Amino acid sequence: MSKQILVLPGDGIGPEIVTEAIKVLAAVKDKFQLAIDWQEGLVGGVAIDAEGVPLPESTLAQAKAADAILLGAVGGPKWDQLEMAKRPEKGLLGLRAELQLFGNLRPAILYPQLANASTLKPEVVAGLDILIVRELTGGIYFGQPRGIKTLDNGERQGFNTYVYSESEIRRIAKVAFEAAQKRQGKLCSVDKANVLEATVLWREVMEEVAKDYPDVELSHMYVDNAAMQLVRAPKQFDVIVTGNMFGDILSDAAAMLTGSIGMLPSASLNAEGKGMYEPIHGSAPDIAGKEVANPLATILSIAMMLRYSLGYPEPADAIEAAVKQVLADGLRTADIYTEETDTRQVSTKAMGDAVVA
Ligand code: NAI
Ligand code: MG
Repeated sequence: MSKQILVLPGDGIGPEIVTEAIKVLAAVKDKFQLAIDWQEGLVGGVAIDAEGVPLPESTLAQAKAADAILLGAVGGPKWDQLEMAKRPEKGLLGLRAELQLFGNLRPAILYPQLANASTLKPEVVAGLDILIVRELTGGIYFGQPRGIKTLDNGERQGFNTYVYSESEIRRIAKVAFEAAQKRQGKLCSVDKANVLEATVLWREVMEEVAKDYPDVELSHMYVDNAAMQLVRAPKQFDVIVTGNMFGDILSDAAAMLTGSIGMLPSASLNAEGKGMYEPIHGSAPDIAGKEVANPLATILSIAMMLRYSLGYPEPADAIEAAVKQVLADGLRTADIYTEETDTRQVSTKAMGDAVVA
């Protein structure tokens, strides 16, 4: 039976970039005779317009039945006046929670042709290829109790809870060790074990899981030092694994080492290996409908989907090689165009067509 992919284009540039990614998916399906099929669904603002909610029951059912999900982006000014619980972004958070997508994989790769896009010196970032594995459904973003209360003396107090159970740590550890096995076999676990007890446990469980992966070299680093090392000498890392909040911050910092939001894919996996794949950027309402958005982050998300959820590493490699080739050929969407010689600015569609070719 063929594997099923749910495609959720969403809002803003979502439909434009997803169209190009699906062209690429169709091309590899054909070339490698893949047993895959896909159907479209509604999420985010388009779902609110059509059905009144950001994550319709029908979409959730489709998502649960699918082997993998490709998402464009959600949100935009049209829905910004809605209260928090009814906004397009809730569609995305709802999918993450309902499918228990706890393992967030965010590669930060600097393509040699785009070395000038980074704000760091070329020698610091040239050849950068790191992967951040962020725990996505636990930690302080979800911990109870939480809130703002008024104390007896009349002063207000805000509080959140940093909490991780052993099973939550163990399952993200496995995702990280397995990812490291497929790469250079180096895993750095980031915590704050000198201050936070929850992360002392984190460190202990990482060490326990490490015994099952003798081919992976595990190290530990405090988060403040990790932030420093990411901008000082980022190439020392292969895979970094960390909790939800530290991962949120470090993965954004790592992404920007490459200087190009339009180039970076991501995966969010659950325990069964089902995943949602999406570019790290948002719906870019400022450029929506103009056919100038960079589709490469979404196209590279397809490669991650083939590798991590569908078990097709070869076409994944082929897509990544094709992306490097179009960059080497000088094709640039507006976000990565720097007026270098032998480069030319192309539309969203032209970029997608070039990757297919
Ligand atoms: P954004 O990532 O959409 O845009 C930031 C800047 O990067 C803009 O100038 C945009 O034009 C540019 N940009 C983003 N993707 C690009 C691409 N593929 N090619 C070329 N340029 C690109 O973030 P922003 O502006 O903060 O948010 C816009 C909307 O997207 C908001 O409604 C926000 O809530 C939503 N959002 C959705 C996310 C998702 O669906 N995963 C993630 C982040 C934001
Ligand atoms: Mg963030």
